[in-house]
Amino acid sequence: MNQATIQQAVDFIKEKVNISPQIGLILGSGLGVLADEIEDPVKIRYEDIPGFPVSTVEGHAGQLVIGQLKGQPVLAMQGRFHYYEGYGLDAVTFPVRVMKALQIDSLLVTNAAGGLNESFQAGDLMLITDHINNVGDHPLIGPNDAAFGVRFPDMSQAYDKSLQHLARTVASDIGLSLQEGVYVWNSGPSYETPAEVRMLQTIGGDAVGMSTVPEVIVARHSEMRVIGISCITNMAAGILDQPLSHEEVIETTERVREDFLNFVKKMIQRMNE
Ligand code: 6GU
Repeated sequence: MNQATIQQAVDFIKEKVNISPQIGLILGSGLGVLADEIEDPVKIRYEDIPGFPVSTVEGHAGQLVIGQLKGQPVLAMQGRFHYYEGYGLDAVTFPVRVMKALQIDSLLVTNAAGGLNESFQAGDLMLITDHINNVGDHPLIGPNDAAFGVRFPDMSQAYDKSLQHLARTVASDIGLSLQEGVYVWNSGPSYETPAEVRMLQTIGGDAVGMSTVPEVIVARHSEMRVIGISCITNMAAGILDQPLSHEEVIETTERVREDFLNFVKKMIQRMNE
């Protein structure tokens, strides 16, 4: 992804806002409601931003919302770009490049995910402690631009240890039981078969979803601090004797909305302490 295209998006955004957030938020399926809590919001539709792809999937508003959340300036993506929509990983991760160019140094990513860990239940929130890229593609394939980061980025601590510690503290302060585990990225758009689910359990996955990993890799390439939260919207196929549907995913995010909002807002409040 070239610097000039990123700079065009940055210039466009900077013309519309007079704050410079340090925290970026990527809000997953059903979780975009968090952006509705942003005060003095400036909303910029993706389709209006030079270089931005256009979102199509239901349940995604497809806009940046920039403003104050719990006294912190933030830039939120209400809806993200998914690989399964047909976007290349350059497009999927373009907003993260833009965030970095806007001097955002911390990224909070959220998603809806299926539970692989059989001690989880639909409605749980999971702190992402690590991930597995289970898709035969990678956002950094191609020439490396050293202005962004190194050729071979370290992924030994993709998810920031001190932010994980903060997440545990905040969860315990508000009496929220927070699960933890490894997020597996599958391309989708089909959900997994029961055999695939057994494989993902065997390789060490606790939750599976269709997003997040490309954005996190690109954020780490530029040495942003990352924290990830999955909303376990359903158990993955074959664990319970029931079919999976996108409706169930959205219903669960609605059910846990209050806990999710409360938790993430408290995280943000304390992130720059
Ligand atoms: Cl079960 N699988 C995948 N890949 N993504 C999901 C999911 C399952 N549940 C919510 N998102």
